[in-house]
Amino acid sequence: MTYANLLIELKDNVAWVRINRPDKLNALNRDTLQELHRAIESLSADAQVRVIVLTGSGPKAFVAGADIAEMNGLSAIEARDFSNLGQNLMLSIEQCGKPVIAMINGFALGGGLELAMACAIRVAASTAKLGQPEVNLGLIPGFGGSQRLVRLCGKAVALDLCLSGQPIDAARALAVNLVTRVHAPEALEEETAKLASHIAALAPLALRGVLDCIRYGAEAALDVGLDYESQMFGLMFATEDMRIGTEAFLKRQPAAFAGK
Ligand code: COA
Repeated sequence: MTYANLLIELKDNVAWVRINRPDKLNALNRDTLQELHRAIESLSADAQVRVIVLTGSGPKAFVAGADIAEMNGLSAIEARDFSNLGQNLMLSIEQCGKPVIAMINGFALGGGLELAMACAIRVAASTAKLGQPEVNLGLIPGFGGSQRLVRLCGKAVALDLCLSGQPIDAARALAVNLVTRVHAPEALEEETAKLASHIAALAPLALRGVLDCIRYGAEAALDVGLDYESQMFGLMFATEDMRIGTEAFLKRQPAAFAGK
C-alpha cells in the first residue's frame, strides 16, 4: 500500500509508522487521518507485525495538532464529520489488538496529544511539549482529548490542560502519568526500538488479552471487569504460547513463543 503522508517500515516484527508532513509539523488533515486509519487496519491484519510505533517525521514535532488551515474552512456539519473521522481513527488504534507505542519526538499538541493518548504506551523525548491548546483557537478537543485525558490523568489535570491551553514539558507529563517513559532526544529512537522489540518477542495473544482487559475494565464496574479478566485468563490456557512460556520457565530456558 502506498501513502502520501506516511512512511511505513517493518523491522523485526515492529512496524514504524511516521507521519510525514514535517513542513506542517505533521498536522493531521483529513487525508492523513484516512491514511492512518487504513494503515492501522492493514498492520492489524498482518501477522508479521507484533508491535506498532507511531511517530512524527522531522526534528520538531510528533504531531502539532489537527490541520488548522483545513479546519478554518469547515462548516459545522463538516467539522462534526472531521471530529468523527479523528475519533474513529483513535478507536481503531485502541482496538487494533496490538500494542501501539507513541514515540513523542517533539510537539504533541491538540490532535497530536489525542493520537498519543489512543496508543497503549507513550514514550517521550525530554524536549517534548504536550498540550490541548484548542481553546486558544476558540475550539475544544475534537478527537477524544477531553475524554481520554480525564481517564488517563484525572479531572484536575484534564481541566488544567484543556482550560489553560498551555503545554507541559515531558518531566511534568511523566509526573501526571501522561507519558510513562522519558529519554534524551538522542536516545529516544534506540530506547523505543528496544522496548518495541522486547514486547514484539512476547506472546501476541497474551498481549491482546492484556489490551482488551485493561481497555474494557477501565470502563466497567469492578465485578464486571474481574469476570472479564477471569474469562480471558482461562482463554490463555487454550494457547500454545501459554504452554511454551510456562514450560520454558520450569526448564529455566528462554521462551520462543509461537504466536498461537
Ligand atoms: N495545523 C496546520 N499547520 C500547522 C499546525 C497545525 N496544527 N501547526 C503548525 N503548522 C504549520 C505552520 O503553519 C507552519 O507552516 P508555514 O511554514 O507554511 O507557515 C509550519 O507548520 C511550522 O510551524 P511554526 O508555527 O512556524 O513553528 P514554530 O516552531 O514557530 O511553532 C508551534 C511551533 C507548535 C508552537 C506552533 O506551530 C503552533 O502553535 N501550532 C499549532 C498548535 C495547535 O494549536 N494545535 C491544535 C490544533 S486544534
